Amino acid sequence: MDEFLDDKEFTRFKDVIYQASGITFTDANRIILSSRLREILRASKIDSLNAYYDLITKDKEEMKLLLDSVTTNLTSFFRNIAQFNTLEHYVFPELIKKKRAAGETKIKIWSAGCSTGEEPYSIAMLARDKLPPSFTLEILASDLSLKCLMTAKEGYYAGSKISGIPDSYLTRFFTKSQDGYLITDEIKNLIKFDYHNLNYDSGNRGLDVVFCRNVIIYFDSAAQESVIEKFYNSMNNQSFLFIGHSESLFGMNTKFEFLKTEWSCIYQKKG
Ligand SMILES: C[S@@+](CC[C@H](N)C(=O)[O-])C[C@H]1O[C@@H](n2cnc3c(N)ncnc32)[C@H](O)[C@@H]1O
Repeated sequence: MDEFLDDKEFTRFKDVIYQASGITFTDANRIILSSRLREILRASKIDSLNAYYDLITKDKEEMKLLLDSVTTNLTSFFRNIAQFNTLEHYVFPELIKKKRAAGETKIKIWSAGCSTGEEPYSIAMLARDKLPPSFTLEILASDLSLKCLMTAKEGYYAGSKISGIPDSYLTRFFTKSQDGYLITDEIKNLIKFDYHNLNYDSGNRGLDVVFCRNVIIYFDSAAQESVIEKFYNSMNNQSFLFIGHSESLFGMNTKFEFLKTEWSCIYQKKG
């Protein structure tokens, strides 16, 4: 029994977080919510959960800060390399073929739930290296964590964060400073970072690839289905969806088709 976050307060807070973001707390991770709330109250000198609840339900900015503090932001460069192999050896060739047939040269990719930027930068480096120079790239990267977005936009990573980046990319796409690495403008300028809560329609359309990895794992099935439906509506026919390797659309009412490539499994929007 948690005396700080009793059953009534737990239900109130988990419901309001779920309504705002799709992030789902259960009894199994209740302790995480309890400790985050405890930290917030201490840091902001608010004396009761009741007062804090009033604040987040009246002030959108306070709600954003709460959501930021309950997210899990673990990420790394070229995380799950099999998926990047799929991007390079399957998705890019398919898109190049399709675009050439249609007389188009633009490829639009979205990293949804980009955390501190390692995922969109990995995509951008690979695309810059592997796509023909005649193709233009537009990469959108979004998250609801403002703290993470600030790091992502800065594009500066400590030496401990760069494992996973091929040496040739480290040399070509980063500038080394005393104790870290700064991504070059050539790569940074390919990406538009933005605040976006996946609970809402982003307004993005015409996407060729969506990465949303290790994000919906924190949602319940209703919220997952709603996010996947929004992706579907924002994507071109024959476009590709990457989700985390421990996530699945199995059992979900979705029009995406499961695709097993030589490197990893992905989903495709079939028209
Ligand atoms: C574990 S990280 C995954 C980062 C990256 N996609 C990867 O796989 O390495 C999950 C990210 O999803 C974000 N997130 C969680 N719920 C979200 C929501 N409703 N809208 C937007 N981003 C969300 C979190 O802020 C966090 O940065």
